[in-house]
Amino acid sequence: MLQAVNFNSYTEQHKLSLKLRSILVGELYLARKLKYPVYIFKNGMFYPVVNEGRVPTKDQINALIKNAHREVYIFPEDVVEIKKNLETALVKVTRSLSVGDPLENGTKDLKLLSLNLGGLYENPHSDELLMLQYQSTQNLSKFLMENKKFQSQFYQNLIRENFHFTLSQPMLSSLLLLSFLQSIHLFHDKEVENLFLASYLKDIGIAMIPGDKYDLKTLTTRDQELFANHADFSFDLLEGRIPLSKNYLSIIKHHHFLNDKLKDLINKDKKKAEPELIFGLESTLVSVFDILVAMTNDRPYRKGMSLYQSLELIKKMMADEYPQEFKALVIFLKQFYKN
Ligand SMILES: [Fe+2]
Repeated sequence: MLQAVNFNSYTEQHKLSLKLRSILVGELYLARKLKYPVYIFKNGMFYPVVNEGRVPTKDQINALIKNAHREVYIFPEDVVEIKKNLETALVKVTRSLSVGDPLENGTKDLKLLSLNLGGLYENPHSDELLMLQYQSTQNLSKFLMENKKFQSQFYQNLIRENFHFTLSQPMLSSLLLLSFLQSIHLFHDKEVENLFLASYLKDIGIAMIPGDKYDLKTLTTRDQELFANHADFSFDLLEGRIPLSKNYLSIIKHHHFLNDKLKDLINKDKKKAEPELIFGLESTLVSVFDILVAMTNDRPYRKGMSLYQSLELIKKMMADEYPQEFKALVIFLKQFYKN
């Protein structure tokens, strides 16, 4: 049975709500020592689930995950401690990716990178965090290309973490993109690496959108505008701060062009389509994998579509211009999901 802190004290609960900050349950694995209790929020109240001064055990963390708790609440001092440990762990695993079991190392790296991305959403202007993400992702791309046979398992293992989609989507779509690019042999390794980086960083701009908007089914016009601008925000946040060339930054800036094309296709009888900008195969593929991963995975407000249904839509978006690549995509995906 859970026991609330001063159960009847409205003031105590109010104080907690002002002080506590949320972290993902998975981040508790990074706790080495905690000064204050860990809370969950249930039925409008904070309840301690780990006592003051204790470190959560694996069983406690697993029990929270099992009971569908995505977030827990801790004091800022403990947040700093956990985020620092997360960065240290990410640096360590990034540096020793090729030492030991590749499946274990890659799985851990994807998980830590995705968790750490949450830190960048909170501090998008931190150069230190951005470079840690950039360099870790760059290292990871080489490792992923060398470990082709595990790519599918890395993908599945990251889905199993059940992170919020804002954390997992960038890595899932980029991993799938990298795997496909490698399979069609049209690009040099360096180009694959740059496209992987561009794809992974393309949604950094969502840092500018309040977190609670992501789980809403319907958005106000103002919110829709905010979402529509996230690719521009990403471009503005990244320009001049990372060593990606103009071409890749432009892919980031326009990474939603296919979504717009899809909207035009759906609404073709309702309004006249906007004049289309010309985009190359690279932009198309970055966008396609983003859409594919988004459509096939669940969101808080809807269930994911089947791969078949998603491919029907993607066919409409790219098959006229890139018939060969679309065929290759279908074959690739069948293989990827079978593994
Ligand atoms: Fe996006």
